[in-house]
Amino acid sequence: MAKKALITGVTGQDGSYLSEFLLDKGYEVYGMIRRSSVDYRERIAHLEGRENFHLRYGDLGDSMSLVAVIAQVRPDEIYNLAAQSHVQVSFDAPEFTADIDATGVLRVLEAVRNCGLADTCRIYQASTSELYGKVEEVPQNEDTPFHPYSPYAVAKQYGYWIVREYREAYNMFCCSGILFNHESERRGETFVTRKITLAASRIAQGKQDKLYLGNLSSLRDWGYAKDYVECMWLILQQDKPQDYVIASGVQHSVREFCELAFHYAGIELEFKGEGMDEKGIDKATGKVLVEVSPDFYRPTDVVNLFGDPSKAKRELGWNPQSTTFEELVKIMVDHDMAKVAVERAEEHIRLNLEEYLEKGVVK
Ligand code: GDD
Repeated sequence: MAKKALITGVTGQDGSYLSEFLLDKGYEVYGMIRRSSVDYRERIAHLEGRENFHLRYGDLGDSMSLVAVIAQVRPDEIYNLAAQSHVQVSFDAPEFTADIDATGVLRVLEAVRNCGLADTCRIYQASTSELYGKVEEVPQNEDTPFHPYSPYAVAKQYGYWIVREYREAYNMFCCSGILFNHESERRGETFVTRKITLAASRIAQGKQDKLYLGNLSSLRDWGYAKDYVECMWLILQQDKPQDYVIASGVQHSVREFCELAFHYAGIELEFKGEGMDEKGIDKATGKVLVEVSPDFYRPTDVVNLFGDPSKAKRELGWNPQSTTFEELVKIMVDHDMAKVAVERAEEHIRLNLEEYLEKGVVK
C-alpha cells in the first residue's frame, strides 16, 4: 500500500515542491488548506485533480480540525510546514505568530497522540536557522546555542523544543529540520530574494523605476527550495529520529544577491555610499536603481546566518551544492524575466483591445 503523507502549509513554496517530490515517490499526498474566500492555491493548481493528491480543510489554530483531518487520513508521515513565516511580519503580529508557529506545533503533536498514531506516524517539523538569531558562533551547526532574535524565532524555538520533548517523553518519531534560507521562483514576493529578482526583471523591462531595500549587508546562506524538500523526506526515513541543519554552506550578502540578480537581468550595478545613503547605480547609465529605506529595517535583525550542513551530508547523503548560489539566482531571474515579459504582452493586448473597442473596430 502507498504511504500516506499529510502536508500542512501545502500551498506554500515548500509544500508545493514537497508534494511533487512525494507524488513522484508513489505517496498518497494529503495537503491541508485553510478555508478562505481568497484563492491562494496557485502553487498547487497543477497538482489538483491528480489521482494521489487530495486536499483537506484544517487550520493549525483549530485543534478540532487537526484531529478530524488526522483521524480521517491516518497519515504515516506528517510534514508540518504551515506557519506565519515572515520574520518582519512577526513584529506586527506577534500573538498570531506565537499561536501558529508555537502552539500550532503542539496541536499537531497532540492531535497525533489523540488519534492513537503516536507509535506509527512520523512527524517532520519545519524549524529554522532564525533560532540562531543573534549568532553565538559562525558557522552554525546542530550544537550551536540558540539566540532567537524576533517574535517569529521565539515562537519557532518553542516548536523546536516541544518536538524534542514529545520525542523524549513519548518516544515519538518527530524531528526538526533546521533549514537555512531556501528560495525559488515560487518564493513569496515579500522575501528579499524574490523581491529583488522581480524588481530587477521589471526594471530591466521598463516596468519599475527603483527598488527599495532594508539592510544590504545582512548575510544569508541561500539554497534552492526544491533541493531542500528532499532532506525533509530523508530525515523521516532514518532509523533514529534526529534534528538536522540543512544549509548550502555558502554565505552571501543581500547586496551580492542584488548585484548578481541585476547582472542576469542585463544590468551591471555598482553600490556607492554607506548605511541609509547607500545606492545601487546602473554603471551604464548612472541611474540610481536601488535605494535603502528604513521601512524594511527590523527592530532586531539577524545578520550573520551561515550553516554547516556536515551532518546532513554525512548521515543523509545529501549534496548541499546540487544547485549553486549562482544557479539559484539565475533560475529565479530567468523565471521572473519571462513572467514580466508575459505581463507586458498581456497589457499590450489589453490596451489594443480597449482602443479597438473605443474605435468600434470590435464590438
Ligand atoms: N524581506 C526583506 N525585504 N528583507 C530584507 C529587505 C527587504 O526589503 N532588505 C533587506 N532585507 C534583509 C532582512 O533584514 C534579512 O536580514 C534578510 O534580508 C533576509 O530576509 P527575508 O528574505 O525576509 O528572510 P528571513 O531570513 O528573514 O527569513 C526567511 O528565512 C528563514 C530561514 O532562515 C523566512 O523564510 C523564514 O520563514 C525562515 O525561517
